[in-house]
Amino acid sequence: MKVTVVGAGAVGASCAEYIAIKDFASEVVLLDIKEDYAEGKAMDLMQTASLNGFDTKITGSTNDYSKTAGSDIAVITSGIPRKPGMTREELIGINAGIVKEVSSNIIKHSPDVTIIVVSNPMDTMTYLVHKSTNLPKNRIIGMGGALDSARFKYRLAEALEAPISDVDGMVIGGHSDKGMVPLTRLATRNSVLASEFLEEDRLNQVADDTKVGGATLTKMLGTSAWYAPGAAVSGLVQAIACDQQKMFPCSALLEGEYGLNDLCIGVPVVLGKNGIEKIVEIELNDAEKNKLKESAEGVKKTNGLLDI
Ligand code: 2OP
Repeated sequence: MKVTVVGAGAVGASCAEYIAIKDFASEVVLLDIKEDYAEGKAMDLMQTASLNGFDTKITGSTNDYSKTAGSDIAVITSGIPRKPGMTREELIGINAGIVKEVSSNIIKHSPDVTIIVVSNPMDTMTYLVHKSTNLPKNRIIGMGGALDSARFKYRLAEALEAPISDVDGMVIGGHSDKGMVPLTRLATRNSVLASEFLEEDRLNQVADDTKVGGATLTKMLGTSAWYAPGAAVSGLVQAIACDQQKMFPCSALLEGEYGLNDLCIGVPVVLGKNGIEKIVEIELNDAEKNKLKESAEGVKKTNGLLDI
């Protein structure tokens, strides 16, 4: 199992690290345009192998896509991250050109690859990969919901004063401060609805804190977060590489599901060896349906800025 991670910045490197630590891939190729940067990160990570106990071979490459040949999965993290006060949508001008070029270079050397898009604005970048390549729709996946759901669980555990392993919850919709739809109604602590323990106001606060999860960290760190994004990607990569048939909210091309068409947005999907094995349609109440519809309108507006 060969995995390519394009972009050896903080997100790409943390993604390579988590994939290696889980030790399910034979090889991870880290690629960056900056001379020797990916090679350096790869070497540093390889020097953790004996300490962390993994056999995954990590190599680096300065923009030489021939090194990525035969990749089963490629993760695109390239592009610029947001700075404090910026929205993910503001990155579109620069990142669209980069994502288009990167995906075409990857596919040239790995025609059967499954692509996971991380670059922002993520739902629009995922849509761009659909529009600009011939990959089947099940092989193009946007990472956002898995990260947003992890942040939701963090906030839920905090509000419930419970260990994180006790809580479950999912965020659907667009990966944007306004577009996320944390499904508070369905969140649970050990199978019991979170609403049994928390007042509506507190649950709404959890949802609001979740939606600005990335922005909060960007303000604190001066740039976009990397540990949770990297860990979220590694979960998706593992589900595909190990044919786990696990369910995650991911950005998928919708063709009528949830009453939506011709966009990529976060919905629950099952991931396995074919990438998206299935889009899962869950019953939403009217308020949730409206929020998802509004979120879709926002994503479509951003898609409208693409030059395709
Ligand atoms: C975030 O939310 C990287 O968009 C990503 O942190």
